[in-house]
Amino acid sequence: MEEAMKFVDAIPQPVQLACAAVGALYLGFKALNAFRFFLSVFILSGTNLRKYGKKGTWAVVTGASDGLGKEFATQLAAKGFNLVLVSRTKAKLDTLAAELEQKYLGSGGLQTKALAMDFSSDDDADYERLRDLVSDLDVGILINNVGQSHSIPVPFLQTKTEELQNIVTINCLGTLKTTAVVAPIMQKRKKGLILTMGSFGGWSPTPYLATYSGSKAFLQHWSSALAQELKGDGIDVQLVLSYLVTTAMSKVRRTSAMIPNPKGFVKAALGKIGTGSWMTVAHTYTPWWTHAIMAWAVENTVGAGSAISIAVNHKMHIDIRNRALKKAARDAKKQ
Ligand SMILES: NC(=O)c1ccc[n+]([C@@H]2O[C@H](COP(=O)([O-])OP(=O)(O)OC[C@H]3O[C@@H](n4cnc5c(N)ncnc54)[C@H](OP(=O)(O)O)[C@@H]3O)[C@@H](O)[C@H]2O)c1
Repeated sequence: MEEAMKFVDAIPQPVQLACAAVGALYLGFKALNAFRFFLSVFILSGTNLRKYGKKGTWAVVTGASDGLGKEFATQLAAKGFNLVLVSRTKAKLDTLAAELEQKYLGSGGLQTKALAMDFSSDDDADYERLRDLVSDLDVGILINNVGQSHSIPVPFLQTKTEELQNIVTINCLGTLKTTAVVAPIMQKRKKGLILTMGSFGGWSPTPYLATYSGSKAFLQHWSSALAQELKGDGIDVQLVLSYLVTTAMSKVRRTSAMIPNPKGFVKAALGKIGTGSWMTVAHTYTPWWTHAIMAWAVENTVGAGSAISIAVNHKMHIDIRNRALKKAARDAKKQ
């Protein structure tokens, strides 16, 4: 201890003061970040959806027939938005459209349009059909929700070409091309909201989901860059970060504090828009409270992109792969 004091005394006083000032600034920024995090997660509501249009304004939702997309459509309908529903299976879209139209018959009526397209085929004709469908509509909201992950965690070198091709085509090209069709409508009306589903898999590099992880990291940078470009046009662009939610994609059925169901997650996603000022990357938010705590803790300690985080993700996904392979072997035996 005495040695340490002697060492400090030997440092010239101006240097000591400069070090103390840097330390105080650092702690001040950390405290401010913690305060913003607390307010965002537990106190503040996000931007009111009415900013993007009155009742009867249209919302376009991709991947709308199941999971989070279906829930986005359902909750936007409840808030008075007409819907353009896009996904692969026409029958599922028609059933959802009929259910929602029936539910909101009395209150001014809900209008829906459904478009069946397979984003993995990257067919220009599909995007032309989408353009024809939306060009005369007052579209205020776009939910870029469609996405595909690996069927189970898999080493990159064992990933089937078709799987990695589909992941990149659906998640990246599908989102870009849909936005290129819809955003000009918002630009003309000088307001709009573009939400894109990101993932913790893209926020933190995830071995054994490497292609999915890369596709979601692509969306992170693209979305934040686009946000800055479209700010002057009155369009809010936000990436929505999420850890697991109970859907067909995650294959998790049981909810917990860490794993909400689509209803809870989407309520938070639509209620907390723009509350991510504490996050490392701008124009990004983590709506579900336990996901936000995890993101804040990691970003303020080891870092989402650190070797430690990647090693933890690796171990976790090796375990998930092993469990999935054992289950597949058990199921095969039963048949
Ligand atoms: N669930 C999670 O734990 C989680 C976590 C982080 C991020 N996310 C992201 O959240 C988004 C939604 O995920 P989810 O869990 O709700 O998925 P999901 O339950 O599997 O639903 C996917 C939806 O996308 C549609 N779809 C899939 N492939 C398509 C294709 N090739 N062309 C057109 N539509 C297609 C499906 O339509 P059909 O039924 O007609 O095929 C379905 O409506 C994704 O971007 C995902 O990466 C999910």
